[in-house]
Amino acid sequence: MKCVGILTAGGDSPGLNAAIRAVGKTLVRGGYRLIGFRDGFEGLAFDRTMPLEEATCSGILTVGGTILRTSRNKPNKMPVGGECIDMTGAIVENYRKHQLECLICIGGGGTHKSALLLQKAGLNILTMPKTIDNDVAHTDTTIGFDTALSVATGALDSLHSTASSHKRIMLVQIMGHNTGWLALGSGLAGGADVILIPEIPYRLDKVAQALLQRSREGKLFSIMPIAEGALSREDTARLAALQEKKEQAKNKAEKEAAKREIAAFHSACSTRIFELASQLEERSGRQTRVTILGHLQRGGSPSASDRLLATRLGSECAKAVFRQKYGFMISASGEGTALVPIAEVAGVRKTVPLDHPWIESARKLGVAFGD
Ligand code: F6P
Repeated sequence: MKCVGILTAGGDSPGLNAAIRAVGKTLVRGGYRLIGFRDGFEGLAFDRTMPLEEATCSGILTVGGTILRTSRNKPNKMPVGGECIDMTGAIVENYRKHQLECLICIGGGGTHKSALLLQKAGLNILTMPKTIDNDVAHTDTTIGFDTALSVATGALDSLHSTASSHKRIMLVQIMGHNTGWLALGSGLAGGADVILIPEIPYRLDKVAQALLQRSREGKLFSIMPIAEGALSREDTARLAALQEKKEQAKNKAEKEAAKREIAAFHSACSTRIFELASQLEERSGRQTRVTILGHLQRGGSPSASDRLLATRLGSECAKAVFRQKYGFMISASGEGTALVPIAEVAGVRKTVPLDHPWIESARKLGVAFGD
């Protein structure tokens, strides 16, 4: 009986179990055996497995998280005893030991880079795009995005009444890594007044102006979703300079130093929302409050849409195994699916295009982006 391996890597997202279930049920019906690897690529490196018979794949459609567990550890930088070690060799060995026909990796941007690395090491790989950030290239959407969108939208809905009662400005930090899909989508669906996203660097004075204008129009409260990666124009320029420095690094030490500077910059930016709240309070004369939605956005049962997506991608993924079509991501394309070479996905981030219909509609409705 041919055996296929599967793992989930990166941050979890609702719908992972639905995808595992779809792959598992379809493969088993096609006469294949499925074996799960625990904790992302770590499980493959250290041979931590979980048999995935049909019974194990049952009853998990509605369950959030991943029964396989996950981690962000990369094959070539696996933390072992305080050090980062290249475990690619061990992964290849375990793949061969289990006589895998193919390895299915369900993940986002980082997972696709790791998947490509393993493909180059000679493994048959297939992937499926999942992340609440929706930032994977060459797919219409990703598993988990729709559920997170509902959670974030629900939060904005709930904040309306308290914002209105107290005539306050509510700043809501929304996940999304370095992209604004979740903040923009939930902002539009949740009737936000100002939306800040990384793709549109904001100016403090423009944001304050928009809030003051609302007051002048008799609108006494404002709802402001802010993508966690949103930056002011000044910070965007600072980050670009740091990235340039990394690109220009002459050796490994310089590159590592530049990477550390970028990490420090991002961690300093993660608390900027509080600074921004007090600056806006001062300029608008209205009380401001900050809500950080955090990992609530990754929790809970997958939405119907995510279950449908995960099932569609998962069953097509199994079909690709039957046809021995390896080296592809099963992407969501219109009502169907498409096979996209992993090499075209790895290292490419899908950001919100500035002419995206969501941005255009928001602008038509008078939503401010602080630009
Ligand atoms: O990529 C998904 C994501 O939830 C991002 O939106 C967020 O920046 C990050 O993961 C949080 O990661 P962690 O779970 O490691 O805190």
